[in-house]
Amino acid sequence: MSGIKLLGTGSAVPSKVVTNDDLAKIVDTNDEWISTRTGIRSRRYCAEGESHTSLCLAAARQALERSGVKPEEVGVCIVATLTPDYLTPAAACLLQRELGLSEDTVCFDLNAACSGFVYALHTAECLLAAAPRKYGLVLGAEVLSRITDFSDRGTCVLFGDGVGAAVVEWRAGYPSLHAVLGCRGNDEVLYAPGVHSDRPSYIHMDGQPVFRFAVEAVPRCAREVLSKAGLGLEDVDRFVFHQANQRIIDFAVKKLGIDPAKCTGNIEHTGNTSAASVPLLLDELITGGELRSGQRALCVGFGGGLTWAGALLELA
Ligand code: ACO
Repeated sequence: MSGIKLLGTGSAVPSKVVTNDDLAKIVDTNDEWISTRTGIRSRRYCAEGESHTSLCLAAARQALERSGVKPEEVGVCIVATLTPDYLTPAAACLLQRELGLSEDTVCFDLNAACSGFVYALHTAECLLAAAPRKYGLVLGAEVLSRITDFSDRGTCVLFGDGVGAAVVEWRAGYPSLHAVLGCRGNDEVLYAPGVHSDRPSYIHMDGQPVFRFAVEAVPRCAREVLSKAGLGLEDVDRFVFHQANQRIIDFAVKKLGIDPAKCTGNIEHTGNTSAASVPLLLDELITGGELRSGQRALCVGFGGGLTWAGALLELA
């Protein structure tokens, strides 16, 4: 058996807090609708002087510092994102320069939308097995406010900006993530066109089919990870589900029959931050003392693609 453990996390959220009441000034909505349908009360947006790159750098520095890992010890750096500052250079390449990672560090961005961070963890686990240096820097980073259609009340109330970072270590004898990744290609119910598409460059989502997909995918993916690991739900200390909608999480909790206290989230003050959602929550749980050394978190992401991804992450 070989795999990765989580050494430390970091996070960076922009300074501008946007409440439901703020959004009610620009679209026909209200705090009651948003909070009861989604669980969201506020989210953060990048303000002037803040960017995807600046948030990535702050979160990565914090994660490295808390892990006691030096930049030159990192072998793999992956940024999961669908909203990088540049299509090229990748956000991971900018981190290489700013952090002073060695030039032979494997650096690239990965787009699996809201499943991206868990996709990236699994990718890091595979790459680190072959890398000369066994520490990986994995980020989930989004500035979704840049691709949000502020004339569409069905989507603009959902999204927020932020970055979560994790430092992992690969070792022989460490447990595998037992990752389960999947995809069901669909560009109709959820998409964010690129700059050369003939569709406008905003996130489009038909909420109901995506909701139905999510409430099926999350419990299925969680069970598949545990079955691969030969473990049961009782062996999991925390369930860290993508924060897309509190109602999706409540459905998953009920369907799996797990203790809701093991599944608390942060959607209330983050909104849906896509790839950043799982690492931001991991960081909040760890800094809040709710997830500790030796404990296991079952992380599940789902979303655009349509994709899903689950992994069992143990804290060193
Ligand atoms: N304020 C007030 N009313 C609204 C708003 C709003 N912000 N948005 C929609 N409504 C109205 C609709 O117009 C509709 O009105 P009608 O009945 O008169 O036609 C009514 O509310 C119900 O709309 P629905 O879309 O059916 O609302 P629903 O309960 O499905 O909630 C939501 C919408 C929150 C988007 C939900 O469907 C959802 O969470 N879907 C899944 C999201 C998700 O998991 N995404 C995956 C990740 S995203 C990524 O990958 C980037």
